[in-house]
Amino acid sequence: MPRSHSLWHHTTNAVTTAPLRKHARADVCVIGAGIAGLTTAYQLAREGRSVIVIDAVAIGAGQTSVTTAHLSNQIDDSYEEILRLHGPDGARLACDSHRAAIDRIQAICELENLTCAFERIDGYLFLGKRAKEKDLDRELEAARAAGVEVDKLPAAPVQGFQSGPCLRFRQQGQFHPMKYLQGMANALQRLGGQIYTGTKAVTVEGGQPAIVRTADHIAVEAAAAVIATNSPFNDLVTIHTKQAPYHTYALGLRVPPGAITHALYWDTEDPYHYVRLQRTTNRELGGDNDDPVDILIAGGEDHKAGQAKDADERFQRLATWTRERFPAAREEEFRWSGQVMETVDGLGFIGRNPLDAGNVYVATGDSGMGMTHGTIAGILLTDLILGRSNPWTDLYDPSRVRSGAAVEWVKENLNVALQYASWLTPGEVSSIDQIAPNTGAVIVDHGRKVAVFKDERGEIHKRSAVCPHLGCIVAWNSAASSWDCPCHGSRFDKFGAMFNGPSPRDLERVT
Ligand SMILES: Cc1cc2nc3c(=O)[nH]c(=O)nc-3n(C[C@H](O)[C@H](O)[C@H](O)COP(=O)(O)OP(=O)(O)OC[C@H]3O[C@@H](n4cnc5c(N)ncnc54)[C@H](O)[C@@H]3O)c2cc1C
Ligand code: FES
Repeated sequence: MPRSHSLWHHTTNAVTTAPLRKHARADVCVIGAGIAGLTTAYQLAREGRSVIVIDAVAIGAGQTSVTTAHLSNQIDDSYEEILRLHGPDGARLACDSHRAAIDRIQAICELENLTCAFERIDGYLFLGKRAKEKDLDRELEAARAAGVEVDKLPAAPVQGFQSGPCLRFRQQGQFHPMKYLQGMANALQRLGGQIYTGTKAVTVEGGQPAIVRTADHIAVEAAAAVIATNSPFNDLVTIHTKQAPYHTYALGLRVPPGAITHALYWDTEDPYHYVRLQRTTNRELGGDNDDPVDILIAGGEDHKAGQAKDADERFQRLATWTRERFPAAREEEFRWSGQVMETVDGLGFIGRNPLDAGNVYVATGDSGMGMTHGTIAGILLTDLILGRSNPWTDLYDPSRVRSGAAVEWVKENLNVALQYASWLTPGEVSSIDQIAPNTGAVIVDHGRKVAVFKDERGEIHKRSAVCPHLGCIVAWNSAASSWDCPCHGSRFDKFGAMFNGPSPRDLERVT
């Protein structure tokens, strides 16, 4: 059986620190110790600012530990789309900012001597089923107009698979995201930054000072607050109507070292597939020697969060797709999944929090490119907090509205409206007896929808299935053993504790 956690979880230990136990003050309070929060904190500390980082769980406990960590300025939604939505200047700035993010990651690795397997590699975009060569030609033209270093080749360098024509993106990158994050956390602490895990923020009030309050009734006062919790928990509606949660799946397959060229690979399907390799050792995989092993990491099969029940079939389809194109792939060692926030116009929301005081900042809307968007957040938010101008400010402004994104906005919000019909449907099972150990299901109990998890000993854990954000009904996610809200992406662990916003609270207890 493959391990049901990520390669990154397997090859690093979770890092926690003491929780925050008394009121504190700093120049900046950053909420969330994923790549966005820690990069921002690190950049500010390098500029001599005092920083407090709080995280509800641990360093990298969120989506940064389940990523696949492509570092790319090939935009997921395509440059053709970015050009249409943001215009030629916007497309150039998007290219520049993602390129600068990869450069910054490399610079941090070098400056701080991080051993996180950072590599510069090329990326290859090849045609998916039904796509035509002219689709690639249009993307080539749009990417070049945006300033991307890209060319067209007759085939990608994959032995045993005829990819057909492809685009090659130069100077992309990859790394081990958790080793990077942990190294950056150490560097931040050496610079005087403080990190408190097990410390959940519940409210953020802007003003002089901004005040962040925690679930343990402790306050942090700061000249500025940054909400980098992947999906902001303090914003009820504004941002959440402009981004939608999607669940995505990843596999790690063992490959003889060197059998597949280390590169980033993507196809043009929708949802698209994304592939890369990570060097590890036999010992790290449980063997008794240090022989090198490559793990081929393939991702895809995305669906709207909380709106599919066929995780096993999705993993199976992903494995079939991968083995057909990468015949050197052997045993499946890992399978995992996670959530991405897709914005209606393809780029992140990074800047001043809409409708808030001027000293509350947010980084969200990763659009499947959270490694670079998180790093862009570190650069851009540092400039904004220090009062410096930055050419990317308008492009990533969380308050922006792009008229070309109206159709996507209507589509996603109609989908949200339809989810409220779940209030009226029967439960997924009619009795608790039908729930297998270690799984969950929504049942109807005295007219209420209840999220029931049965643990491996058969003990029952019940919470209200009503999401505390705006009242949609959560769904059991068998791939991640979580309760996922189909509306704006709130997520709760199997016992109902919130670990991803926008819900401000856990699922309510029921008797
Ligand atoms: C399968 C998969 C593949 C991906 N592949 C890529 C890729 O190849 N390239 C790429 O660029 N991106 C990729 N992404 C996206 C990327 O991983 C994420 O966008 C990125 O890790 C998000 O980082 P973050 O810092 O914004 O959030 P997170 O890493 O989720 O960090 C948020 C932190 O906030 C904490 N938190 C939450 N609420 C609170 C609270 N109330 N108080 C205190 N702390 C709180 C959490 O515990 C967590 O540690 C992928 C994502 C998935 C799921
Ligand atoms: S996340 Fe908005 S209703 Fe659940």
